[in-house]
Amino acid sequence: MESGFYTNDLERIVEADRKNVWHHLSPHKKYETVDPMVMVEGKGMHVWDAKGKKYLDAVSGGVWTVNVGYGREEIANAVRDQLVKLNYFAGSAGSIPGALFSEKLLEKMPGLSRVYFSNSGSEANEKVYKMVRQIAHKKYGGKKYKILYRDRDYHGTTIGTLASGGQDERGAQYGPFPEGFVRVPHCMEYRGQFGDVADYGLRAANAIEEVILREGPDTIGAIVLEPVTAGGGVITPPDGYWPRVQEICTQYDILLHIDEVVCGLGRTGTWFGYQHYGIKPDFVTMAKGVASGYAAISCTVTTEAVFEMFKANPDDPLDYFRDISTFGGCTAGPAAALANMQIIEDENLLENVTEMGDYLMGLMQGLMDKHDVIGDVRGKGLFCGMELVSDRKTKEPVDEKLAQAVTADCMANGVIIGVTNRSVPGFNNTLCLSPALICTKADLDEIIGAIDAALGRVFG
Ligand SMILES: Cc1ncc(COP(=O)(O)O)c(C=O)c1O
Repeated sequence: MESGFYTNDLERIVEADRKNVWHHLSPHKKYETVDPMVMVEGKGMHVWDAKGKKYLDAVSGGVWTVNVGYGREEIANAVRDQLVKLNYFAGSAGSIPGALFSEKLLEKMPGLSRVYFSNSGSEANEKVYKMVRQIAHKKYGGKKYKILYRDRDYHGTTIGTLASGGQDERGAQYGPFPEGFVRVPHCMEYRGQFGDVADYGLRAANAIEEVILREGPDTIGAIVLEPVTAGGGVITPPDGYWPRVQEICTQYDILLHIDEVVCGLGRTGTWFGYQHYGIKPDFVTMAKGVASGYAAISCTVTTEAVFEMFKANPDDPLDYFRDISTFGGCTAGPAAALANMQIIEDENLLENVTEMGDYLMGLMQGLMDKHDVIGDVRGKGLFCGMELVSDRKTKEPVDEKLAQAVTADCMANGVIIGVTNRSVPGFNNTLCLSPALICTKADLDEIIGAIDAALGRVFG
């Protein structure tokens, strides 16, 4: 038996994986006949698997996470230095990287002033739900407890966040779910509910108001929304949508929770997705790109007004946020996050995202001219999607097996792209691209070249 992490016998690793590991979001039957993929190494935009095959990664670690690319020694060194100094202390105390990272983060988020650390996007969102429920008890006799969420949005994998999930294939068979989560319609213009109208954004926002009036505004505490919907089909908001959503929240005293787990930390060309739309959130949650996957960290960020509510009555032993996340006290997270943010600044990656995002959009539009199967291309910055349809007029989605055949073809040819997966029933048909923020035109040419060839082979 070899000891330590590293071994040259990667076949043994693949067998150990096949025998012992339960992969995320994966049907396992196939691994009885094909080898599970085991990733071994990464550098820049590329990863290598256990068979030594090299891939260009167009989805930043599969799930839009490794924003600054692989093999960043400055992050690894920052984490190592912090771990030998102090690896952990419970989050009831502060830490040097936690204090410094929250200060640097809040400089980028005017109007927000408190950071609560935990370690996954789901958990960060759950924190908001708990805060909203507690505010309902503190201010509204428990009545204003409902949380609105949107069709096609995703907020996590726990029972609470699945209760607020607008992707039914993620939630199916995991119920019953806790009550108090109410769905509002999506805002996807390509599959708009109101026909071909000029003021689609306004109508989509007004559809939220209809739900509020139906439920009773005095029962609704918050609404959670992705600035650009990710796994539900890369849905960019239509013009006029966000100002009206903001107006509705103010009018009915509803807290606005923006889930930046995917869009956060530069993916769309601003530090946060909501900053494109002039939104003033009460809560912002973030995870994936915060430390680019070099350590587990998530943040729930809120305003001083919300924070103040949790220390209004110091004589009441229940009048504070009675929540703990054990690993929210790990110091590796904020140490990695500080170094990650420094890289984004030093290398002007926000500018690169805007420039490369425009270039990528141009390439996708070119591909659309060539392949009828592409019904729509959407995106913001380096966060893009291509929806595949069998008929452009009826917009009938292609069978998901065909969309998966495109990703498999790209993979076989050394390019990793994504596709909406166990998301909205019948709509696992959008190819997803979210390359690292460091990508170049040559990388994007290669990615689009692989998709072009794959579409040709799968659809003829
Ligand atoms: C928008 C959004 N929110 C929340 C989550 C959940 O994050 P995590 O998997 O870290 O719990 C995800 C994960 O994909 C996400 O896309």
